[in-house]
Amino acid sequence: MLSYEKAKASADFILNKIKIVPKIAIILGSGLSDYHQKLDEKIEIPYSQIPDFPEATAIGHKSKLVFGKIGSKYVIMMCGRFHCYEGYSMEQAAFPVYVLKLMGVETLVVTNAAGCINEEFDVGQLMVIKDHIKLVIDSPLRGINDERLGPRFNDMSFAYSPRLRDLAKEVAYGLGLTLREGVYAFMPGPSYETPAEIKALSILGADAVGMSTVPEVIAASHCGLEVLGLSMLTNMAAGILDQPLSHEEVIEAGKNGADYFAKLIDAVIERL
Ligand code: HPA
Repeated sequence: MLSYEKAKASADFILNKIKIVPKIAIILGSGLSDYHQKLDEKIEIPYSQIPDFPEATAIGHKSKLVFGKIGSKYVIMMCGRFHCYEGYSMEQAAFPVYVLKLMGVETLVVTNAAGCINEEFDVGQLMVIKDHIKLVIDSPLRGINDERLGPRFNDMSFAYSPRLRDLAKEVAYGLGLTLREGVYAFMPGPSYETPAEIKALSILGADAVGMSTVPEVIAASHCGLEVLGLSMLTNMAAGILDQPLSHEEVIEAGKNGADYFAKLIDAVIERL
């Protein structure tokens, strides 16, 4: 069961270190892990110091919170997130989202690297997430609900804020960046999907696939954070091209797209 008390203790610990309440939090996915370097007035807090925070063990992920300023805005960044394939439950993967909420954060930007299912989209492009598909039974909200965190049955109709999606599209247009919009399918990994699974997800309406983000967005919806979800399309999903997938390819494409990703996020944050 999600513990309000634990999330509150973590939130108080972090606030005590940073003193200022940031209204914006960003979860940095693979490929964006260096984005925190551009922050001014930086304060870094390793996850290992924060009560009840897990450790990020995924390749390409750091394991710290970084607080600071981008332009005129204070933000807090999760450099490293928790995936179910690392052995974490969805509840553990979602725990930091409640911590951010209890700190006073209002907007959550979630980023990830994703496999591209929609053949009209291209590797290297960014996609704003308009909705998701989760076929696995698990949810971060399974178990007894604590009403202090959110309602038992939360509405997911606008989990990916239409306002923020429009803002991201407007900002991308202004910068001359291509920004796709689509549905993100969650798959638990760590194996990449089979070609048959990708075909099935495509028929179901997915445009991209990945192993993160969805537990965090369910939690954000539950506790009332406004979410912007952005995917970097790092590879064509399994079976679309007649070639195998490799994690190196995903990391490499993530690195290549990092500047483009950063440019968009910088401009979105300034407008929030
Ligand atoms: N599948 C799942 N997760 C991913 C992929 C993929 O093809 N690419 C990047 N993350």
